[in-house]
Amino acid sequence: MSEPCHRQGDEIGIQRDYWNREADAFKRIYSRNKPAFSAWLDKVFRRDMFQRFEFTIGNCQPIAGRTFLDVGCGSGLYVIELARKGAATVVGIDIAADMLALCRQFAERENVQDRCTFAVSDLLQYSPDAPFDVTIGIGLFDYISDPLPVIAKMRQVTTDKVVLSFPRLWTWRAPVRRARLAVRGCPVYFFTKRRICDLMRQAGFERHTITRVGKLHCVVGVVGRE
Ligand SMILES: C[S@@+](CC[C@H](N)C(=O)[O-])C[C@H]1O[C@@H](n2cnc3c(N)ncnc32)[C@H](O)[C@@H]1O
Repeated sequence: MSEPCHRQGDEIGIQRDYWNREADAFKRIYSRNKPAFSAWLDKVFRRDMFQRFEFTIGNCQPIAGRTFLDVGCGSGLYVIELARKGAATVVGIDIAADMLALCRQFAERENVQDRCTFAVSDLLQYSPDAPFDVTIGIGLFDYISDPLPVIAKMRQVTTDKVVLSFPRLWTWRAPVRRARLAVRGCPVYFFTKRRICDLMRQAGFERHTITRVGKLHCVVGVVGRE
C-alpha cells in the first residue's frame, strides 16, 4: 500500500534533487544505441516502460490538432512524440530543471520546438491559460505519496481524458525497486487496482479503465466535458 510520508514541499525537494541527478541516466534508458547487454537488461526488466509508451500514444488518439499536457514529462519522449504526430501544442511540466533542459534539446533536434512549451513546476502550482484536450502522467505517481490532489487537478485542467500509469503493488519487482531507490534517497509508491479505482472516483472521473501492462496499471480516465 502506498503510504504518505513527506509533507508536499519536502517531497518535491527530494524528488527534484533526485531527478536532477538522474536526468542523463534516465534519458539513456530510451536510447536505441546501447551495448547488447544493456539492451537485454531493458528487454527483461524495463519492457513495460516501452509497452506503456505504446499504450499511452495509442490512447491519446486522435493527436493531430489537439492540445496535450504531460505532467512529469522527464526527458521528453512523450512530448516530442505527440508533437511529431501533429499535436497543436504540447506543454511538458516537471519539477526537475535538468530534465526540461533535455526536453528543449530534444524538441529542437526534432524541429518541433514551435509546438512545445516547458515549465519547471509541479501540477498543483501550475495554472494553464486554457484547458487541455488530454493530460498524461506516465511514471509520475511512482513518486507522489498523496496522488489524489494531483489527479483531481488533472481532471480540472482537461476536457477529454487523462492517461496515467501506476506501478503495481503485488509484483516481485516492487520490494526490489523500493529497496534500490531507498538507498539512493528516492521514495517510491505502489498501487492496487482497488486504490486506483477509489482515486479516480474521488477525483471526479465518471468512467475509467485500468489495463494491466507488465508490472504497471495503465489508466484512462474520461472527463466527458465538451
Ligand atoms: C520516471 S520519470 C518519467 C518521465 C516521463 N514521464 C517518461 O515516462 O519518460 C519521472 C519524472 O517525474 C518528475 N516528477 C516527480 N515528481 C513530480 C511532481 N510532483 N510533479 C511533477 N513532476 C514530478 C521527475 O522529475 C521525473 O522527471
